[in-house]
Amino acid sequence: MSKLWGGRFTKETNKLVELYTASIDFDQLLAKEDVQGSLAHVKMLGECGVLTTAEADQIEAGLKTVLEKIEKGEVEFLVEHEDIHMNIEKLLTDEIGPVAGKLHTGRSRNDQVATDMHLYLRAKTKEIIHLLVQVQTALVEQAANNIDTILPGYTHLQRAQPVSFAHHLLAYFWMFERDKDRLQDSLKRINWSPLGAGALAGTTFPIDRERVAELLKFDTVYPNSLDAVSDRDFIVEFLSIASLIITHISRLSEELVLWSSQEFQFIELDDSFCTGSSIMPQKKNPDVPELLRGKTGRIFGDLIGLLTVLKGLPLAYNKDLQEDKEGMFDAVATLDGALKLLSPMLATMTVKTENMRQAVTQDYSNATDIADYLATKGLPFRQAHEVIGKIVFYAIQKGQYLLDLSLEEFKQFHELFEADVFNVLQPENVMAARKSYGGTSPEQIKQQLALAKSKL
Ligand code: ARG
Repeated sequence: MSKLWGGRFTKETNKLVELYTASIDFDQLLAKEDVQGSLAHVKMLGECGVLTTAEADQIEAGLKTVLEKIEKGEVEFLVEHEDIHMNIEKLLTDEIGPVAGKLHTGRSRNDQVATDMHLYLRAKTKEIIHLLVQVQTALVEQAANNIDTILPGYTHLQRAQPVSFAHHLLAYFWMFERDKDRLQDSLKRINWSPLGAGALAGTTFPIDRERVAELLKFDTVYPNSLDAVSDRDFIVEFLSIASLIITHISRLSEELVLWSSQEFQFIELDDSFCTGSSIMPQKKNPDVPELLRGKTGRIFGDLIGLLTVLKGLPLAYNKDLQEDKEGMFDAVATLDGALKLLSPMLATMTVKTENMRQAVTQDYSNATDIADYLATKGLPFRQAHEVIGKIVFYAIQKGQYLLDLSLEEFKQFHELFEADVFNVLQPENVMAARKSYGGTSPEQIKQQLALAKSKL
């Protein structure tokens, strides 16, 4: 079959070369964006008088028909035509004849493909922002129902101080909030238009790049044509933000796996989000959070893959750049799936408040509070810390918790102890006492929740 670029060639392309270098198997995902870019380009060519209005109109109508046929699944993409750009040009030619050949005036596949990627990533970035909001909404709703739910807070995975479950969930809310912010900021750079940069050096035709940018709703045009066709920073940026998002998802997933274990029993995931074992009848496995945790590897791989492609690549376009696509598509699909599962899984999980409450009565996570108690009564905190350390050691030897000790026992360690120490030691009071801004007291959490809701 004759190639769109066949003029200079005397031989057919080797079949293996054709198969190996073609990108149509994956870049057909860009069909809509490719037509969108072409529509803007041809409109501008018509307005600038590079093409006649009649030609531009004919090409526009043809492109719209081609897109409709693609969307209805009525066309077959062929490896012989290498990529989505040339497949669409071939389909356009079949539709409207030789005038289709005028579409490529003043442009190259190099600025064309870069434009497609910008358009694609802009749409996907907005979708992911929306999905993040849904996850945040699920977190806020669970948090609102669990302001007074106490569970152990951990450092080093050792019981540290009791916290509210709402507080714990909202910590993830803010991670996702920053992720949204990063995506939003990245749109500034995604919204640069490469179209009209030509193959690398610009074009001899009197085109209007600003007009194309306006038609495609880009904020500005790349000021340098070499940079326009070889820049993939915006994809690296997306992949690094995606890596951070999946990292946050993975940390949360790890907690869901731990909390739903027999050892913790802090939550139960809904049956519809768990799977069973083919051999052990009793099993209910948290496959979804496990898999979300496991998906980090793919997205990190996508990021490292693209950085490696770009490293050491001379200007301007090189075929290596075709390797920018599969990782990006993979990261988009992986994140999309992860976020769509995460929101309903969070919304439907059962919080075992009694088990959480019981856990904080069986540890020494109230120890800081009586160190603070002595410090408030004037003992230097460092000394108070030492005294409480000895009390904790004493209680552990007796097989008791701090609330089990008598006032006499406390007084043996320091004369400043009085009967109100038992009040201070109550888990609810321990939690409520952390009234500093951003702390875990219910009043602080209510403020935090209001702020969180204002971001949705
Ligand atoms: N399929 C190519 C890619 O994705 C399109 C650009 C081809 N340009 C070229 N000069 N061969 O990178």
